[in-house]
Amino acid sequence: MAQKNKVQLSIREYRPSDQRAVSELFRDGVHENIYPAFFKAMSHPDHVGVALSLSMAGYVLGGSSYFQALLFGAAWAGLIYFCCHEIYAGYLARRLGTDMADIPANYLDNPDNRFWVAEADGSQPSRVVGVVAVMGRRGGHSGNGSVATGMAEDGSGASGELSHVMVAFPWRRRKMGSQLTQRALDFCRERGFARLVLDVSSPQAGAISLLRKMGFVQTELHAVTHANRWISSLARITVTRMEKVL
Ligand SMILES: CC(C)(COP(=O)(O)OP(=O)(O)OC[C@H]1O[C@@H](n2cnc3c(N)ncnc32)[C@H](O)[C@@H]1OP(=O)(O)O)[C@@H](O)C(=O)NCCC(=O)NCCS
Repeated sequence: MAQKNKVQLSIREYRPSDQRAVSELFRDGVHENIYPAFFKAMSHPDHVGVALSLSMAGYVLGGSSYFQALLFGAAWAGLIYFCCHEIYAGYLARRLGTDMADIPANYLDNPDNRFWVAEADGSQPSRVVGVVAVMGRRGGHSGNGSVATGMAEDGSGASGELSHVMVAFPWRRRKMGSQLTQRALDFCRERGFARLVLDVSSPQAGAISLLRKMGFVQTELHAVTHANRWISSLARITVTRMEKVL
């Protein structure tokens, strides 16, 4: 991919007038993980094996019917797609009903929390093209949620929980995600947090690569999502807990 120039950004705090743009960006950023998750799951040898076996069964049961072979294989693919969709759609619904439902109350009224938006300088009219949020966690408590549940609480000082690092498609690979993450890191240092942590799901390869580049390391890997255990295991999604010590 051709390297584009680093874009000039204005990163500022969220304003209520940003709500619509931020919600759209958030929805798109979460939904775009469904197809990568589906293709990743379907290319796993176990799922390929099941799809081939079902197709074969369809072929035999249908009296050498290619149509039935295709139908049985497609039914399996449909189930896997449903599981991937459930995980991200469920996550989206949960966040839109909790922290994202009232960003000023959840992020701006507490000095340990912050929500920023990025505007690309020169875009006319000026529009939101990136977001990032931090929720402070003192005494092991977080008001945040994530794709995963069951976060480890080590009680070793205050930390920040990073979320919603998202950049609109046309503005990607221009260091916008890096600048937003850096803003969150600077804020956490100012607040005296010991670390910045977040959960990333396996299909979010770009985010994992960005975070590694910025010095985040993996501290935990598990397959527990907010969704039902069967849905999570059929979708074959793993959750990586990453952190950067400040
Ligand atoms: C992840 C995301 C925020 C990255 O934003 P961005 O502005 O494109 O990131 P940057 O330009 O700062 O990328 C910095 C580095 O991260 C890595 N990176 C970023 N996107 C990548 C991708 N799609 N594939 C591989 N590496 C990637 C690269 O190493 C890149 O450096 P390079 O461009 O010099 O190779 C953006 O792709 C996005 O919004 N994704 C969807 C939402 C999401 O998954 N968010 C994470 C929530 S935790």
